[in-house]
Amino acid sequence: MTSDLVARIVESGDLSEQWTPTFERVPRENFIPEIIWDEERQAVHRADAPHRWNQLVCADAPVITQLDDGAETGPGYISSSASKPSIVAMMLEALDVAEGYRVLEVGTGTGWNAALLADRLGDERVTTVEVDPVLAEAARKALADAGYHPTVLCGDGMAGSPASAPYDRVIATAAVQRVPYAWVEQTRPGGRIVAPFGTAFHNGTLLRLTVHGDGSASGRFGGNVGFMWVRDQRTPHGAVEDRVRPEHDYTETTTEVHPYEPVADFDASFVVGLQVPDMKSTVVHDGEPAEGRFTVYLMDPDSGSWASWRVTPERVGGYRVRQHGPRMLFDELSAAYTWWQQTGRPAHTRLGLTMTAEGEHLLWVDEPGRVLSRG
Ligand SMILES: C[S@@+](CC[C@H](N)C(=O)[O-])C[C@H]1O[C@@H](n2cnc3c(N)ncnc32)[C@H](O)[C@@H]1O
Repeated sequence: MTSDLVARIVESGDLSEQWTPTFERVPRENFIPEIIWDEERQAVHRADAPHRWNQLVCADAPVITQLDDGAETGPGYISSSASKPSIVAMMLEALDVAEGYRVLEVGTGTGWNAALLADRLGDERVTTVEVDPVLAEAARKALADAGYHPTVLCGDGMAGSPASAPYDRVIATAAVQRVPYAWVEQTRPGGRIVAPFGTAFHNGTLLRLTVHGDGSASGRFGGNVGFMWVRDQRTPHGAVEDRVRPEHDYTETTTEVHPYEPVADFDASFVVGLQVPDMKSTVVHDGEPAEGRFTVYLMDPDSGSWASWRVTPERVGGYRVRQHGPRMLFDELSAAYTWWQQTGRPAHTRLGLTMTAEGEHLLWVDEPGRVLSRG
């Protein structure tokens, strides 16, 4: 990573003195493959377009390093990336490591984050797990070329890595919708787990859990981090046309609720996603977004349920809502949004999660006793 970028991240307050020398010693570009993809999913070959490659790699932005799990063709789903440097810094700060700590990383990707950890803590204290064998091998090589030799394992990181447990810290660099209990089991009491946590409806925020002596773990959410999902928690794809069919029957009502808050506000939509499981949303604009003429589709791929919520600037008598299938998705969203409004419109930082020793997830607001949902 260029020292310019390191300086900018320091200036923005995301990188402390403890981590700065490590970021300066471990350049991100040494871990980025020769072929990457830009935001339009166009391949950029370092050999053919060195300037463009450098531009993408030296920016404070994620770099796409794999599409469609490495398949030659596919829909262009991002399956691996080098995370945005300022987010990497923010997550390592949240991890709160100290000399002598042993860390498990889930999601090796390029190996850059593992190199940063190995530089700070020592090779023997870092274990990293990558599910994709090609990526695991490439990361192992990039790490060795840069002079780092943490333990790089290829496997499902949801199972952790019991062989090197217990850990002082566990960090996931792929997002979860459920924290696997294996991570709690493999962290010592007083240890910490840091993971991007989201829902089918909301990209996610950062969860910081502290592990307790009784086998439970608890902590709060905080920070805007959107990551790709761990492989077995990906939400199903599918275009609106595949899920909302002309032959479907539906009920029709109207609402005074505009989607701006329940769908687009970071805090409101986080709560909606937590309370309305497995619901995805897609916004389809009629023309330019500025015209304000669009339909929000809410879809549950498993049950086939959907709702459409029509927004036009010249609405008369409320916005039209259609609902199809066994789940009334708009009604569920509306109830969750009302709860958020009536609870004082809590910021996501007022929410937390407790994992019991039995692996149950309790979501709460303000304090562990005020449970919002369990599952
Ligand atoms: C955002 S990338 C990680 C970035 C990485 N830490 C770096 O420094 O480049 C997420 C990675 O998680 C991996 N992954 C997804 N599910 C996984 C799982 N169940 N176990 C281990 N790795 C997983 C993906 O293959 C991908 O490489």
